[in-house]
Amino acid sequence: MAETVLGFDGVSKRFGGIHALSALSFEVRAGEILGVIGPNGAGKSVMINVASGVYAADEGRIVHRGRDITRLNAHQRGRAGIARTFQNIRLFKRMTVLENVLVADKTHTVRPFGSLLSFGRRREEIAAALAELDRMRLADKADQLAGTLAYGDARRLEIARALAGKPSVLFLDEPAAGMNERETEELLADIRACRSRLDAIVVVEHDMALLRVLSDRLVAMNYGQLLAEGTPDIVLAHPEVVSAYLGTQDG
Ligand SMILES: Nc1ncnc2c1ncn2[C@@H]1O[C@H](COP(=O)(O)OP(=O)(O)O)[C@@H](O)[C@H]1O
Ligand SMILES: [Mg+2]
Repeated sequence: MAETVLGFDGVSKRFGGIHALSALSFEVRAGEILGVIGPNGAGKSVMINVASGVYAADEGRIVHRGRDITRLNAHQRGRAGIARTFQNIRLFKRMTVLENVLVADKTHTVRPFGSLLSFGRRREEIAAALAELDRMRLADKADQLAGTLAYGDARRLEIARALAGKPSVLFLDEPAAGMNERETEELLADIRACRSRLDAIVVVEHDMALLRVLSDRLVAMNYGQLLAEGTPDIVLAHPEVVSAYLGTQDG
């Protein structure tokens, strides 16, 4: 079995009376693209938020490459190599595409605007950011304001920004949401292309067809718990997974 890159070990997260995650355990393995499915409200985004340190776990442990990162804050998780995109695109609309990559440090928090003044001295960072944009087919839009990007381009810019910190594990929260068929096809190729630069990729998606071809393994969640894990064929045919989707709009 492949080495574990990131492990969730009995992780729980509550919001008042809502058990968003309940003793969730699963592993992300070296080299894999792990798909995560589950009906709306299953806890998929909370899982990413707890993995990336946006929320602190109430119980359980998160271990990255043998290191317990449970108590690290979001900034420290970023430094440790955990990167993510958001379900709702978060870009600086009135900054250029290039600036959006440059201002993102590993936690995607914003550097003080004063640091914009020193961009001239940051040639290497600019070159690296442009290379990142090039990989996501956005280099020709580097000087365009992010707010003017087409939806698919904005999604890819988020990914480029997440990759700029050279992370170990990249979490993508519904990257194909709102994309048409052609954009989804391209996204598939883009995600595959960045695979070799990462230890692992975790993709939360509602697009089952996309996940079936993209994922090495799938994890299915419901009510903050693990429902099933395994190959896409096994998980998508799992009776509890099928019934979790019956009567929901996601099926
Ligand atoms: N910041 C928050 N405060 C309160 N409840 C939250 C918060 N974030 C998520 N939740 C709740 O946790 C549950 C899981 O949400 P989420 O992870 O966003 O689901 P999904 O699987 O659709 O991504 C939902 O019931 C949601 O309302
Ligand atoms: Mg979500």
